[in-house]
Amino acid sequence: MSTYSDRLLKLIVMSDIHLLPRGEVKRGLDTAPRFDAALDSVQAFHMDADLCVFAGDLTEKSDVKAYELFDNLRSRIDLPQRVLLGNHDDRDVYIRCAKEPMQDENGFIEGYEDIKGHRVLMLDSSEPGKTRGGFCDKRLTWVVERLAEAKSAGLKVIILLHHNPCALQMPVDTYRLSEPEKLLAVLHDSKAEIIQIVAGHCHITSAGSWGGYPCATISGNQHRVEPFLRGRSGQQACYEDPAQYAVLLSDGTNCAVHFQNYIDQSTVMDQLLFPAKMNQEFEKLD
Ligand SMILES: [Fe+2]
Ligand SMILES: [Fe+2]
Repeated sequence: MSTYSDRLLKLIVMSDIHLLPRGEVKRGLDTAPRFDAALDSVQAFHMDADLCVFAGDLTEKSDVKAYELFDNLRSRIDLPQRVLLGNHDDRDVYIRCAKEPMQDENGFIEGYEDIKGHRVLMLDSSEPGKTRGGFCDKRLTWVVERLAEAKSAGLKVIILLHHNPCALQMPVDTYRLSEPEKLLAVLHDSKAEIIQIVAGHCHITSAGSWGGYPCATISGNQHRVEPFLRGRSGQQACYEDPAQYAVLLSDGTNCAVHFQNYIDQSTVMDQLLFPAKMNQEFEKLD
């Protein structure tokens, strides 16, 4: 008989890696060793994950050397991996560089994996040359079909994409997913059980909902921005950290989204101050 842990989906989502060719640095942040630190963190804590998804902005300026570096660095992680594109990526360049790109029948970089009662639906929201992402009719039709399959199979759906669809009431909304109402109508009409959406692009951690669907964003591997909310003026602050990825754990009823920081200048407190946190046990759900 399977254990609860065997039935629990564990999904890693990394985004906004923004790699440059080795030796090139932008704004003082070298994204290659930062990405390496992310992979170290996965190796230390999450080698039991079912899937690791890289949700776009893999490179800063979509050059071949940076895509090669991306593949070289991640090759040491012995986990199933899938790759999506963001606005900093170029689909044609990526397809030329990638060994086995995930592609739908129309050539877009998207796909799905059915794991432990879930459909992990990974969408291509990139529109090369445009900061805003979007979905053409072909991609929307593809989403309609995949959601219909998930509904008829009774699968819970987790949607991953690069561009945040949910308005965060921040300047980044001016380049979030364009025409989000089109995708939202597809999701609503599907009647599929969509339990979580995760996006990158906005370089900030957020949680909330979009059209009734739980929606989270992660800050990624490059700079992180402050919550610069509607009504503010002046310059928005940017920070070197935390760099983070998301860890989703879902049993179909409980879907937790954790934000795992791998570069974080917070001071670790003395463990002796927390004796009750020695050798803690987890809730038994078997
Ligand atoms: Fe980005
Ligand atoms: Fe982006």
